[in-house]
Formats: sequence, structure tokens, C-alpha cells
Amino acid sequence: MNHDFFMNKALELAASARGLTRTNPMVGAVLVRDEKIISQGYHEFFGSAHAELNALANIKKDDLENTTLYITLEPCSHLDKKTPPCAPMLVQSGIKNVVIASLDPNPKVSGNGVKLLKDNQIAVTLGVLDKEQKKLNEVFYKNMLNQMPWLHLKVAQSLDGKMCLNNGTSQWITGSHSRVSVHEMRSHCDAILVGGNTYKIDSPSLNVRDIAICHNPNFKQPEKLILSRKTNPLETKNDWIEYFKNIYKNEKIGSIFIEAGPQLYTKIMEQNIVDRLSIFIAPSLIGKGQDFQAYDRQDLKDLTRYNYQMEKFPDGDLLIDIRF
Ligand SMILES: NC(=O)c1ccc[n+]([C@@H]2O[C@H](COP(=O)([O-])OP(=O)(O)OC[C@H]3O[C@@H](n4cnc5c(N)ncnc54)[C@H](OP(=O)(O)O)[C@@H]3O)[C@@H](O)[C@H]2O)c1
Repeated sequence: MNHDFFMNKALELAASARGLTRTNPMVGAVLVRDEKIISQGYHEFFGSAHAELNALANIKKDDLENTTLYITLEPCSHLDKKTPPCAPMLVQSGIKNVVIASLDPNPKVSGNGVKLLKDNQIAVTLGVLDKEQKKLNEVFYKNMLNQMPWLHLKVAQSLDGKMCLNNGTSQWITGSHSRVSVHEMRSHCDAILVGGNTYKIDSPSLNVRDIAICHNPNFKQPEKLILSRKTNPLETKNDWIEYFKNIYKNEKIGSIFIEAGPQLYTKIMEQNIVDRLSIFIAPSLIGKGQDFQAYDRQDLKDLTRYNYQMEKFPDGDLLIDIRF
């Protein structure tokens, strides 16, 4: 059996719900017999049925003979959630072979689902495309392991690193392709955050517009967050971490898209808490303007060379995408 091939199919299904599962992971499942997919399912949106349940929804017990179920994430075994746990359901179903990409990252439940399957004579193969699954669900892993939202910082700048003119004008430095890409990124996060100055100067609408996901009835617009010293004066690194942890805990926000002006960009990078940085670069020179002011390094040996992904848009804008 080509495990990678079928797990890849399950991962593709999982990824089709990007932007719709909120604090839940994206999960896919395919049921295979004689090297053919006979059924499939995925977790379609927050609060909906789980992938393995959808994959087995129309399958009778007799049809499970000689089948293997591929699931991208360990089936859950805990009751602390909206839907019934999947591992006992799999035991009930009569399935005999299960292939799983990764264990559930939640330390309280990790391994319990697999144990339940094994204790009930289900053969389990674990770790197929584990790395790919973890990449797909990087936000969920951050949430589970750190109890903190995934922080995705985005800035737009000129070739000379300027984020707005000296008079504060910044709309628009980059072109329409970059802005569509920003809306895609917004749609993948549970909230959009801007600093108080940007809120006052730009009056941004902070919503997702003009992209396909807006027509999906299960899509929910991100929450809006304004960071201001008036309500949350953040001084120490600990203040910043507590601020974000409280948002995760109290507002159930698992990912925040931060659209920073130069001041907020500088402040937040100094805390070393950002998970992903997307820099959109327009092929223009602004000259005098406002820019990133963090670090004040005294020695070039202190520079970090980041790994990054790059995209070039048809109008010449570039996107440099870094994961820390
Ligand atoms: N090129 C880009 O990507 C981009 C993106 C966004 C904005 N901009 C431009 O950037 C300009 C505004 O930039 P900016 O750097 O002044 O503003 P900013 O990004 O809005 O960040 C500064 C604001 O964040 C809040 N803040 C900063 N440090 C804080 C802390 N330690 N604790 C709590 N709150 C804190 C403050 O809000 P309060 O004043 O309410 O206390 C402050 O006004 C605008 O002209 C806008 O057009 C450019």
C-alpha cells in the first residue's frame, strides 16, 4: 500500500477547509480498499462533524472488510468538545486498519486515541507524512503547546524599507495583487489586529473582501482587535505574552493577523514572539519616510540570516515570507 499517496490525499482534503475551522485543526480522512479510495471526508468547518466520521458516514460494517482508513490526525478520545469522540466511534465501526499522520498535540490527550484503537485490536501505523501534517496545522500546534495564538505579522514596504511617507500616508505602497494576497492571509486568521495610530489614520475596515471564501456560508469574518496604550499598555515581554494568552483563553482566538505600522512592527519584533512575518515589497523607493527601528545592533555578527519563501506577483511586487 502506498501510504504517502493516500495520506497526501487526506492532507489535501484537510487543507480545503483552511480558513473555516478556526481553533480546530484541519483534518482529512480517506478509506481505501485495493489501492482505491472508496470514501472520504474532512472536518469542513468549526463545530461540524470530524473527518473520520464523515469518511465512514455512508459505509456499512460489511463494506469495511479489507479496508484501511487514513486519517491526518490522531482520532480524539476526550469529551471536552462540541462533537462526540472519534476513537470509540472507530472501534464501534469495525475498521481493522488505521494509518495516522500525527498524534494529537494536546499533551492531555496525545496518544490516548491510538491506545484505544490498539487496545481494541485495530492495527495502527503512525507517522506517515507527520512533518507535512504539522506544517498544515502549525497554528493548532502553537495553540495546544503554548496556549497562545499564532501571531502572523504583515507589513508592506518600499525597496528602501519605508512603510509610509513621513506624513503617514501608506495607502497604497503595494499593488492590487499583494492586497488580494493580504485578504487571503486575513481569511486564514481568527482576528486582525492593528495599532491605535493605524486605526485612527487609516480607518481600516479590517475585514475579508472580494475573494472566493467570502461566498462560503461557513466562513466567519475575523474579529477586530485594536492595540492601544490606553487600554493595554504593554511594557515587558511578559506583558505582551499575557496580553495574547488572555485573548486565546478568553476570546478563543487561535490566530491573529497583525497589520503593523512602523511603530508596532518595531515594538512587537523586539519581543521575539512573532511566528510568521510576511513582508510585501513594492519595487519603488520612498526615500524619506517611516520605517522599522528595532534592534540597534552594534556588530554585524549579530545578524540572523532567515530562511524564507518568496513569491513574485505579476505587477512586480515581492512577498518575503519568514517563519521563525
Ligand atoms: N506599510 C504598512 O504595512 C503599514 C501597515 C499599517 C499602518 N501603516 C501606516 O503606519 C502609520 C501608523 O504607524 P504607527 O507605527 O504610528 O502605528 P501603529 O502600527 O498603529 O502602531 C502604533 C500604535 O500601537 C499602539 N502601541 C504601540 N506600542 C504599544 C504598546 N507597547 N502597548 C500598547 N499599545 C501600543 C499605540 O496605540 P495608541 O496610540 O492608541 O496608544 C500606537 O499608536 C500610518 O500612517 C499607517 O498608514 C503602514
